[in-house]
Amino acid sequence: MEKLDKLNYINGEWVGENQQKFEIKNPATGEVVGTMPEGTKEDVEAAIDAADNAFPEWANLSAEKRADYLKKLFNIMLEKKEELATIMTLESGKPLKESRNEVDYAASFIEWFAEEARRAYGKIIPGKTADQRIQVIKQPVGVVAAITPWNFPAAMITRKMGPALAAGCTFIVKPPKETPLSAIKLMEYCEQAGIPKGVVNHVVCPDEIFSNTIKDSTKVRKLTFTGSTEVGVLLMKQCAEHIKKVSLELGGQAPFIVLDDADLDKAVKGTIASKFRNSGQTCICANRFYVQSKVYDAFIEKLEKEVSKLKVGNGLDEGVDIGPLINKDGYEKVEHHVQDAVDKGAKVVIGGKGQIKNNAAYFFEPTILRDCSEHMVCMQQETFGPIIPVQKIETDEEAIGAANHTRYGLAGYFFTENVTRGTKMLEALQYGIIGWNHGAPSAAQAPFGGMKESGLGREGGVEGFDEYLETKYISFGL
Ligand code: SIN
Repeated sequence: MEKLDKLNYINGEWVGENQQKFEIKNPATGEVVGTMPEGTKEDVEAAIDAADNAFPEWANLSAEKRADYLKKLFNIMLEKKEELATIMTLESGKPLKESRNEVDYAASFIEWFAEEARRAYGKIIPGKTADQRIQVIKQPVGVVAAITPWNFPAAMITRKMGPALAAGCTFIVKPPKETPLSAIKLMEYCEQAGIPKGVVNHVVCPDEIFSNTIKDSTKVRKLTFTGSTEVGVLLMKQCAEHIKKVSLELGGQAPFIVLDDADLDKAVKGTIASKFRNSGQTCICANRFYVQSKVYDAFIEKLEKEVSKLKVGNGLDEGVDIGPLINKDGYEKVEHHVQDAVDKGAKVVIGGKGQIKNNAAYFFEPTILRDCSEHMVCMQQETFGPIIPVQKIETDEEAIGAANHTRYGLAGYFFTENVTRGTKMLEALQYGIIGWNHGAPSAAQAPFGGMKESGLGREGGVEGFDEYLETKYISFGL
């Protein structure tokens, strides 16, 4: 595929031709796949002004009209699925079949929120006195800024942009430097869908330039972010200055519990679906495994059989299941987690090794570690790699205690065929998303988000729509 030299998209124009460029590299080979201009403070300000100017007209369109634009965008995304998926694999490294799934997933947010646009319901409340009537209406928040991650280069944008546009907000996105090309494709599709200029804007620029400019602007009324808890804390503090609304989708440390009455085939299927999505570089992917002693050996044996079938390689190659890690830092973290576990007594069942190609591409084998304990770094921190550390536990209470012993609360998984045990487990686990006998919980209609230090607010579902709406009440006197 020829190199993609792209520009930022501000106020319906492609800008930055003469600015300094940076390169986007394929994590599977280290080859340059494209370039983008390094956005500036002036670019971010121009994007804010464009979004602010476009806001009144967009907000005043009928919900049906906004939905029509979103439906056009949805159709274009599906028509161009192969194009977007290929670019996504080139810049993120994820296997092509996963990129295709991500295009479907990303498009599903646009479709779902197109339908939801017409359901920004208000309500009528009986007044306090006989001559008072109270009406509650929902209105768009205003200009929304979004900071999105590299691990889901399209879906993390549409999960924010879909509800924002449906609600009548205008939108500025700053994608990461690793994966701006998928974001730019989405902007091209928005342009092709005829979305009016200024309604969506794209600036890729250094993080501090974006967040400082957004922070200082009173025109931007909401910031939505997916990324690390550390950055989320900083952004939340910055947003306090002008009391901007914030939605934060932050780090996870997902426990995966297998009880002794679990259907082990289901548990293994759930493990593969959860753990190896995007080579384990997913906020909700299972990070640490707690398996009851009665089924411990049987689970590991079955799991090893399935893990041994997984193929590591360049995501563009046929049959590849596990692509590269995004960069050297990511690779070194995984390597450290494995080494630390082995040093502290874990045994490698399968995998355990990394491979660096061309001094630029970082692959790690899908790995199972047994005999793990809570002292190991991999049981305490998010690994973001294809590692399955398994700890033996005895009771349901022990599993719940270990699972909740963290400052994170994004996703948690458990496997049991017993409804009573499962109900107790789902109620006790301090997580915003629960997979019960299921390793792939994400869906456009569901309220994705975390408890504790994993985030604030929800994305997707009616809850995710509400994040982009203000509530106003009107008191009528008769
Ligand atoms: C994430 O890594 O947080 C995104 C995963 C998803 O939406 O399923």
